[in-house]
Amino acid sequence: MAEAFLTAENLHKSFNEYKAVNGISFTIYKGEIFGLLGPNGAGKTTTIRILSTVLEPNSGDVTIGGQSIRHNADAVRRLIGVCPQELALYADLSALDNLLFFGRMVGLNGKEAKSQAIANLELMGLLDRAKGKVDKFSGGMKRRINLAIALMGRPQLLFLDEPTVGIDPQSRNMIYETIESLRDGGMTILYTTHYMEEADRLCHRVAIMDGGQIIALDTPHGLKSMIGSPEQVTLEDVFLKLTGRGLRD
Ligand SMILES: Nc1ncnc2c1ncn2[C@@H]1O[C@H](COP(=O)(O)OP(=O)(O)O)[C@@H](O)[C@H]1O
Ligand SMILES: [Mg+2]
Repeated sequence: MAEAFLTAENLHKSFNEYKAVNGISFTIYKGEIFGLLGPNGAGKTTTIRILSTVLEPNSGDVTIGGQSIRHNADAVRRLIGVCPQELALYADLSALDNLLFFGRMVGLNGKEAKSQAIANLELMGLLDRAKGKVDKFSGGMKRRINLAIALMGRPQLLFLDEPTVGIDPQSRNMIYETIESLRDGGMTILYTTHYMEEADRLCHRVAIMDGGQIIALDTPHGLKSMIGSPEQVTLEDVFLKLTGRGLRD
């Protein structure tokens, strides 16, 4: 049996009276890409904020690499990298300086920060733009820098919150390929998206979230088998069947 790397137990988080996360539990195994799939407002980002120690849950706990987010948040932070849904970049700095800055923030010395920054820029196909100011970059390039930053410090667990929203197909493909190569290198990844084909292509297992709850959790093949022949139905069919066709925005 695979080794658990993250265990979330009965998480709750309310904003005023609104239950954004309403009693979710799941395990992510070492080396897997775990997908959190759900319509807008399902609670995906709130869940990532809890798992990454940005938000405290009202109740429940999360263990990452054996450390609790409640009792050992600093130790958890050393194990994780976060690529947030909202870009977190210094627009006035060059790509390289953004990576160096975040590298120092996660405790790398100057030499180590520089070598990781260059490796990550190369991985994301941006080495030739290292000296370019980030505010001149396209949306897809900014997304790729955001991912390069999340990799500083070589995290064991990477959180990716909708990393492919609103970008060109070339950048999207590069992000897919990067995620697959990180997985092949042994990284554990939590991936949120509302694009079903992405989850089907990338994820070992997928949790479908709606209204703050996990309403199904299985392999893409297992989820498709719930409603028909896996060769004939898509994850989108499963998703619509489970979450309904009502608009969410
Ligand atoms: N800081 C906050 N204050 C109040 N409501 C929030 C806050 N963060 C999220 N919410 C609400 O919680 C629900 C879940 O949001 P979110 O986790 O961002 O969903 P998702 O990422 O799946 O789109 C939404 O209805 C959102 O408006
Ligand atoms: Mg979100």
